[in-house]
Amino acid sequence: MYRTHTCGELRIGNAGQKVTLAGWVQRTRKLGGMTFIDLRDRYGITQLVVEADAEASLLGTATSLGREYVIQAIGTVVERQSKNSKMPTGDIEIKLDKINILNKSMTPPFTIEDESDGGEDIRAKYRYLDLRRNPLQKALALRHRLAHEVRNYLDAHDFMEIETPYLIKSTPEGARDFVVPSRMNPGEFYALPQSPQTFKQLLMVAGYDRYFQIVRCFRDEDLRADRQPEFTQIDCEMSFVEQDDVLNMFEGMMRTLFKNVIGVDVPNPLPRMSWFDAMDNYGSDKPDVRFGMTIHEITDKVKGKGFSILDEAKYVGAIAVPGGAEYTRKQIDELTEWVKRPQVGAKGLIYIKLNADGSVKSSVDKFYAPEDLKAIGEAVEAKTGDIIFIMSGNEKRKVQTMLGVLRIEMGNRLGLRDPKVFAPLWIVDFPLLEWSDEDNRFYAMHHPFTAPKPEHMDLFYSNKKEDLERVCANAYDFVLNGTELGGGSIRIHDSEVQKRMFEVLGIGPEEAEYKFGFIIHAFQYGAPPHGGLAFGFDRVCALFAGKDTIRDFIAFPKNNMGCDVMIDSPSRIDKVQLDELHIDIRKEQ
Ligand code: AMO
Repeated sequence: MYRTHTCGELRIGNAGQKVTLAGWVQRTRKLGGMTFIDLRDRYGITQLVVEADAEASLLGTATSLGREYVIQAIGTVVERQSKNSKMPTGDIEIKLDKINILNKSMTPPFTIEDESDGGEDIRAKYRYLDLRRNPLQKALALRHRLAHEVRNYLDAHDFMEIETPYLIKSTPEGARDFVVPSRMNPGEFYALPQSPQTFKQLLMVAGYDRYFQIVRCFRDEDLRADRQPEFTQIDCEMSFVEQDDVLNMFEGMMRTLFKNVIGVDVPNPLPRMSWFDAMDNYGSDKPDVRFGMTIHEITDKVKGKGFSILDEAKYVGAIAVPGGAEYTRKQIDELTEWVKRPQVGAKGLIYIKLNADGSVKSSVDKFYAPEDLKAIGEAVEAKTGDIIFIMSGNEKRKVQTMLGVLRIEMGNRLGLRDPKVFAPLWIVDFPLLEWSDEDNRFYAMHHPFTAPKPEHMDLFYSNKKEDLERVCANAYDFVLNGTELGGGSIRIHDSEVQKRMFEVLGIGPEEAEYKFGFIIHAFQYGAPPHGGLAFGFDRVCALFAGKDTIRDFIAFPKNNMGCDVMIDSPSRIDKVQLDELHIDIRKEQ
């Protein structure tokens, strides 16, 4: 037997027992003739001790141990002289009789401790060593626990986990596909699924009325902290449901995860906010509602005072930042530069300070009397001591979005975004369609199978652009602390409505047949009313742990360039393989 216990298990109650442990040497240190060894496995760390008067061979082995050697340690559990209350095993140590070296290790390129000295690149290259570190083990353990709870909940509600294929045809999620050449069909390609969307709808046609899958999805898009080219969804679909049924089922699931995994109670029912309110008040379709500082429209309040920028703007909005009246000129200048960066895209920032002594000071004092500025302050619900930031422009949603980005930044700077506070909510009533000036056509805001709200059917059949812009979708997003964790919709199950949807999107019958023929045909054989959603599982894991980057919650993630530097992928393939796949590389890069 390699071990009788794990390295996280032994306590004072085990004192006197003879035990065998196995694990990795985290470090060794000598103290007054004694050798202490920290032995690690995924369950914890236990201190081993070789006494000064131990046998020479044992002393010799203990001194020869290097970092990350794999050893078996045999000895007796004893109470420690100096206890370490920070470690669960900190009351005891193992007085060793014998050490067997099971395997040696090269000196690792970075220290494998909670706070590693290794940079991100080196840790990515040696991911299997980084994964030995406690924070990463905790992250993967959380992921496992969440997956387990998801399966329990969905199984208890009659959902069946069904696998769908990875080698498929392009799916309609709107990102770029990763494609795989087909050796047996020269010149033809599979696409890896951006989601199992079409398959789960086909499963509804097939009568599997409650489906789920914890499934890998692939999207070739620009990467960020919360995006990976391959990521995992908790993908779900239900038949014979309306929007409320789906929302109730899945907020029940999230509530169970919050309670069972991190012991957090969230409101029942969860708040719901329309997309329009989210945009108007938070400048984002994924509002962080842990703090206020909401956006107020002040278009009518600023006109007619001779300040042409605001006089000419179609929309003027503002936020009040608590305590901001204290900001120095330098701080305001820095913020103004911050909003002018291309990532935000503002032209400038107007401010009004409501000073503690009752006076007001603004960057537009020339145009507005103190009482005008105070009236703006009231409209924005600002308090004495606040600073009001104003932005303007001709496109309301654009200005709101910029104010929304500023709001989040101020929330960060003021410490209002505590990762241990959880404020989930549903965003509902999305517009069905998004107009693109560039392409002069509508795009589906979610995907082309999303149903319009039943009460908007007349608008949906109108040929006027303004009418179509007003059609709301039977769609919803699950938002937590400013991140979109999940989204879905009630689907179109009537082929006439689907035809109209393709027409509105400018997808002709031939293109529709080529891209989605299989699903259009299937829907002619008794498609039940259905709807569903998918959660981004990696994001759920990260946010539950209070983190915003998902990389640490994936065992083997890609870097920002979409590369796995450990296995060196993507990489070239040889000429023989290319020939088999009927592929010529156009130009050597
Ligand atoms: P959607 O495209 O909104 O919907 O994706 C669902 C959720 O998946 C997560 N997500 C990602 N996570 C990490 N990296 C990525 N690159 C990435 N892209 C998306 C997000 C998102 O909310 N088929 C529909 C769902 C449905 O209608 O049922 C879909 O895929 O958390």
